[in-house]
Amino acid sequence: MVGENMIHIGIIGGTGVYDPNILENVQQDEVLTPYGSVSYKVGDFAGKSIAFIPRHGSKHSIAPHLINYQANIWAMKKIGVKIILATAAVGSLNLDMKLGDFVLIDQFIDFTKNRKSTFYEGGKRKVVHVDLTTPYCSALRKKILAVAQENGIVVHNYGTYVCTEGPRFETPAEIRMFAKFGGHLVGMTNVPEVVLAREAEMCYATIAMVTNYAAGISSQPLTYGEVFHVMNANTEKLKKVLMNTIKC
Ligand code: HPA
Repeated sequence: MVGENMIHIGIIGGTGVYDPNILENVQQDEVLTPYGSVSYKVGDFAGKSIAFIPRHGSKHSIAPHLINYQANIWAMKKIGVKIILATAAVGSLNLDMKLGDFVLIDQFIDFTKNRKSTFYEGGKRKVVHVDLTTPYCSALRKKILAVAQENGIVVHNYGTYVCTEGPRFETPAEIRMFAKFGGHLVGMTNVPEVVLAREAEMCYATIAMVTNYAAGISSQPLTYGEVFHVMNANTEKLKKVLMNTIKC
């Protein structure tokens, strides 16, 4: 295993981001956590050592409700990561956040049902109630915003993310309810990832990419094909933002 405290930045790649091809000298490694072992890639970019975990596995084989969020965040912490840049494909609940737009999520609403969502389950690790007034790392969001704007990329500097259990998509009635609750985006993975990162005292931000209009916003039935299609069409843009954010 690469020595602890050597790797400072971690990338958690969401749908469509499975390969850390911006990195050089890539090695596969494994780290043991109390929640299971996690394999990750580590490599160099811009003089920095970067760890990479594809959230759904390298072949998109892990469903959102079965991702071992606790192990992934614990692993990042254990190998020394202080800053996590996460990517996520999201459905848009409003016509201002358009296909291919980036959104720097600043709040979430949790509609997950059956996930292990804390490190603080009592016993040895005690019961701790973390503050989530500002769930996402403001300094990192600021950097990403500046980089996206410098590169002429459409980016929204706010967004309330509604996290559903999945893996099914939502009904139009659910989407109408989420919109009434103040949601702008819907996805299946940011909770508990952001919560665990906060519990682990890490700086975590998500670059969300709008890959579709949520069910009922679009008149067409929703398919995963369109999510992948829009994500793939915008991968270069995402790469550019990741690379330039790491550089600064
Ligand atoms: N709903 C839930 N998760 C998603 C969506 C969606 O419309 N698009 C991408 N991830």
